[in-house]
Order: sequence, then structure tokens, then C-alpha cells
Amino acid sequence: MAKRPSTVFVCEQCGSQSPKWLGRCPDCNAWNSFVEERAAESGGAPPATHRYALAGAAGTAQLYRDVELRQHARLTTGIDEFDRVLGGGIVPGSLVLLGGEPGIGKSTLLLQAAANVARAVGPVLYSSGEESEHQIKSRGERLSVGDAPLYLLAETCLERIVDEVARLRPALVIVDSVQTIFSLKFQSAPGSIGQVREAATQLLFTAKGQNIPTFLVGHVTKEGSLAGPKALEHVVDTVLYFEGERHHSHRVVRAVKNRFGAISELGVFEMTSAGLKAIPNPSKMFLAERPANAPGSAVLCSVEGSRPILVEVQALVSSSTYGTARRMASGIDAQRLPLLLAVLEKRAGLNLIGDDVFVNVAGGMTVDEPASDLGILAAIASSVRNRPIPQTTAMFGEVGLAGEVRGIAQASLRIREAAQMGFSRCILPEANIDPKEAAACELVGVRTIGEALDAAFG
Ligand code: TYD
Ligand code: MG
Repeated sequence: MAKRPSTVFVCEQCGSQSPKWLGRCPDCNAWNSFVEERAAESGGAPPATHRYALAGAAGTAQLYRDVELRQHARLTTGIDEFDRVLGGGIVPGSLVLLGGEPGIGKSTLLLQAAANVARAVGPVLYSSGEESEHQIKSRGERLSVGDAPLYLLAETCLERIVDEVARLRPALVIVDSVQTIFSLKFQSAPGSIGQVREAATQLLFTAKGQNIPTFLVGHVTKEGSLAGPKALEHVVDTVLYFEGERHHSHRVVRAVKNRFGAISELGVFEMTSAGLKAIPNPSKMFLAERPANAPGSAVLCSVEGSRPILVEVQALVSSSTYGTARRMASGIDAQRLPLLLAVLEKRAGLNLIGDDVFVNVAGGMTVDEPASDLGILAAIASSVRNRPIPQTTAMFGEVGLAGEVRGIAQASLRIREAAQMGFSRCILPEANIDPKEAAACELVGVRTIGEALDAAFG
């Protein structure tokens, strides 16, 4: 009797396996997430393709003392902002996942990087399961790819992609959308957890085994995470997210995991008719349309990774026409707004009952660190009092429930950025003032929100 192929049920969310179907995943508690999958042939020795050596003699342990310290010579993508999120360029043999919503610019960014690497280093393979070679080329014409040694492959079969990599031995491989790739070893549809995991694992073996850096494009699910998130994120070296709003041209690439660099590092781009353009000075862009002397506007300095960015936060407080007051926030932590309003009422004596409060960060930027509290509070107070905060004042600090202003991290970085952008005065937590340090602009240390508001409007 022929042996029945064994099947397993796999959770689409976290990759957990079970011999029978379950309504709820015991590992990640997702409902109705199990799908049937044909198990890979098992038994016997693991195939040679399931092994790779990172370097040197495979299989024998080496003494810590004898291991050479090697500085990875990184490849540059030719796009400064992209190199920055990668931690200073592409590490040889690394596997990088770039996630984002459809249409945000993932293919555009990677095609630009691919062309740059091809021009500077050597052949690059751009494999797409979503577009034909002609479609990629017509996009490339807008990005002036020119005659760089860039190889295009419209392919969805994992094994054929791996063969092409072995044949071309490129300096860089790009696989556009890991969700469109399928392996002949599995019968499930492309995009299923088994296929996605197999594709990522096989490409990891080629990347590490042949020392070829590889970029994977990943689609984001409705909930905002990569499809099969946990299954993929722990396989790759670096996870980058492409963010941005449909109605704004600026885009942010953020590192959420990086074995070779700082996380929460970010790169800022603008989508133009000739592809993505790096924005070396994001503060300038975010402050470009700031209204002069308008009440309800405050400038704060947020730090993302190692990078300070000045943003304008706007607030509008108006008496509510309906029974219940509305509180709406975009670009800030929505949970924090009611808390900050309560602090303003109790500790600064502002009466906000019955008022609608709207808070928005200009330019579609998101600031969610506590250091932005003071700027948000000041913008609200400025709208209530209908008095502007001086144009050249920036403020930052965390606010506690007792109305105290608490010290924050990287204050000197923020001060320097503010001074560089022409701000002459910073209002910040007293605890962050270092009398020994020569400041680039006037610093006003405050201990309570009362003092902060006096300083802002005084
Ligand atoms: P794309 O890179 O295809 O997005 P993804 O791969 O993340 O799905 O980007 C598509 C969008 O970018 C599309 O709306 C058109 C726009 N775009 C430009 O504005 N300028 C350009 O030069 C290019 C190539 C695309
Ligand atoms: Mg695409």
C-alpha cells in the first residue's frame, strides 16, 4: 500500500504546527489561523541544501581566542538614507526583509539600489514575481537605470531563482515579494506560511553560503504586520519597514530589527517623478510650511534611532457643538492625549470640559516618544489661550501625572538640531541642563508644566 503523504496544520500567524486542525492557535491565540500543509519528505540525512557554512571550516568548533575579528566591508546602496537604516550599507551575505503596504515604493527603492550597486560593484539580479521584465524596465527608465549590469528575472519558482543566482553569482540579489514565490517541494499556494518560510530559508542558505546579500520584499497584512510575521522575522538578519501616507509624498524606512546596526534608525525619502529622493535634512521638510505666529502650533524635537527630527505639532481647541466633546489625535499616541489633557486641567488650571480637542503632527510624521509630551501640551495651551508660542522656541520633555517635567534621553542631540535649524531658545526639563556644557542656544530649564507654559508665553 502506498504511504499516504503526511499532512500538518500550520498557523498562518506564527508558524506553529499541529497534527490536527485547531480553531485557536495555542501559541499566539489567533483564531481560525490553521491551514493544511503537506509536510516535507522526512527521513534519511538532511539534504545538502539545508546546510550552510557561515565561514571557515564547517562543522568544527573554533576557540574564541583564535577567531579573527573581521570588519565587514559593506556595500553601499548609493542612497545615503538607505545606507543609514541598514547601519552603514549592505553587509555581505546578509538577508534583509523590506516590508510595507502595496504601492508605497518598495520596488522603486530596491530597483534604484540595485542599479547603483550594479554600476559600482557588478552584476545584480532583480527577480520579480509580480511584474514582467518589460514592466520593470519601463519603471527603470524613469529611474535612469541606464546600462548598469542589472539582470531582470520574472520568476516565481524558488528553485529556478536559486539556480539563476548560482549561475550569475551576482553582487546582490533582490526577490520582489517573498509572498509570490513557491517551492516545488510544497504543494500549498504561494503566500502560505509554509511557502514563505521555505523561500526565506532557502534564500538565507544562498545568501550565507555564497556570501551574496539578498533583499526580500514582504507584503504587509491588513493588521499591519508582515504575513507570517514571526516565521520570517527571526530568519532574516534585518527587518525594515516602509511607512508613509498615501496623501503625502514623504516616505520613511525604519529598521525594526538589525543584526548589524542600530534599530529604530530611519531614512527619510520623498517620492518624486524620478523615483525616491533621499531627504538628508528632514527637519527642514517637516517645518517648511509652518504658519508664522499662529496659536496652537509648537515645535518639538523627536529622536528616531540616532537622529533628531524637528516636527510641528498643531492643536485646535474649540467649544463642542455636540453634547460630548471629541478628542482626536493623529501622529501622536492617541492613548496619551486624554492623559495630557487631564494633567493640563488639574495641574495648569485650564478648563477643557466641553471643548473639542484636535491634535495633529504636520507632514504626516508620527512622534510617540514621551519626550514629545511638553510640545503637545504647549500646543494645546497655546490654542486655548489663543496666544502663539514664539517662532524660534522649541520644546521637549516628558510630563508626569503630577504635572512635573521629567528628564529625557539625548537632550543635547535635540538642542543641537534645534540650534542648527535656527531656533534660539529651547524649553526643556531642568534635569537635562548641564551647566558645564556650552549650549548652542538659550536653554530654559523647567520643573513643572506651569513653569514651562510661563516660559513659552512669557
Ligand atoms: P512601487 O515601488 O511599485 O510600490 P510597491 O513595490 O511598494 O508596491 O511604487 C509605486 C508607486 O510609486 C506608484 O503609486 C507610482 C509611484 N512612483 C512615483 O511616484 N515615481 C516613480 O518614479 C516611480 C517608479 C513610482
Ligand atoms: Mg512592488
